[in-house]
Amino acid sequence: MSSEIFHVNDPRIFDRELLDELCDLTDRSRTLAKTTEGALSLRQALADKRAMLYFTQASTRTFLSFNNACHILGIRTSEIRDPTVSSEVKGESFDDSIRTFSSYVDVIIMRTPERGLAARAATLMDSIPRRVPIINAGSGPDQHPTQALLDIYTLERSFEGRGGIDGKTIGMMGDLRRGRTVRSLCYLMRNYHDVKLVFISPQAFAMRKDVKRELAEHAISFTETEILDDVIGDLDALYVTRMQSEWDTDNESVNVNLSDFTVGPHEMSLLPADAIVMHPLPRGAEIDPAVDNDPRAMYWRQERNGMWVRVALLLKIFGVDPGH
Ligand code: NCD
Repeated sequence: MSSEIFHVNDPRIFDRELLDELCDLTDRSRTLAKTTEGALSLRQALADKRAMLYFTQASTRTFLSFNNACHILGIRTSEIRDPTVSSEVKGESFDDSIRTFSSYVDVIIMRTPERGLAARAATLMDSIPRRVPIINAGSGPDQHPTQALLDIYTLERSFEGRGGIDGKTIGMMGDLRRGRTVRSLCYLMRNYHDVKLVFISPQAFAMRKDVKRELAEHAISFTETEILDDVIGDLDALYVTRMQSEWDTDNESVNVNLSDFTVGPHEMSLLPADAIVMHPLPRGAEIDPAVDNDPRAMYWRQERNGMWVRVALLLKIFGVDPGH
């Protein structure tokens, strides 16, 4: 196997070799799981490990896919999903809580409404004797590195016969300012050749400067528009996101007309026949359910890919390859 990984906090730790290896490990794990014998060998792979799922921000897919990825690998799980049932209500500090989890488990998978806490937990781990890996499963509006991994896997496999992600034009639409999934995915684009990004959003929700600076530094081409119809015919993938209204300070998303940033039968008629539509889910009104039956709608497959990519990630963190 190539380089090792420990904490997964910033998507920029992933280079092309690691991404290719994770995609391959994902394929091999899901193939293995198709036979009883293979599924049993996967369940033995990390049967001596325990995981803590510490999710103090709402989650359906990320929680369930990590939980089930753990179970596929025989990892036993503990969870706290509600901070009011942890000793933090008695005044225990965040650091002491994380250190306590690390006393009992071998990996901590965490999602918080605040940015920066997974990084803080990783720094803490690096300073104590019983150091366990921290996986960032969503840090406020900032980053969501494991979602970016499953998005890369979905893109690579969707373009399998067409040279993968290299050379593709990828549109990202919606609340790009506060959507952590697109922010993390942008960070991974440095690993692919000749990718063109097209940001489609209302001006008030445009991609932030920090990400644009990174893209410029790595010479990744991006353009910005408010008009989907102008660009949709050039796209290989359209990655749609919802308005992240939970971060509103001033009803800002309510005051914007979002009807121009939706996908329905009209938009599908303009999208190339071999392009795909992705969405991290949950969706709001931005994708008409009528699109679900179009073979270019990739979001349900993308959601399922998430579990298998997380299987591969856990195997990689613990340095186990079930096929060998
Ligand atoms: C995303 C998230 O939580 O950032 N959901 C997910 O993990 N699949 C996207 C979102 O909430 O809009």
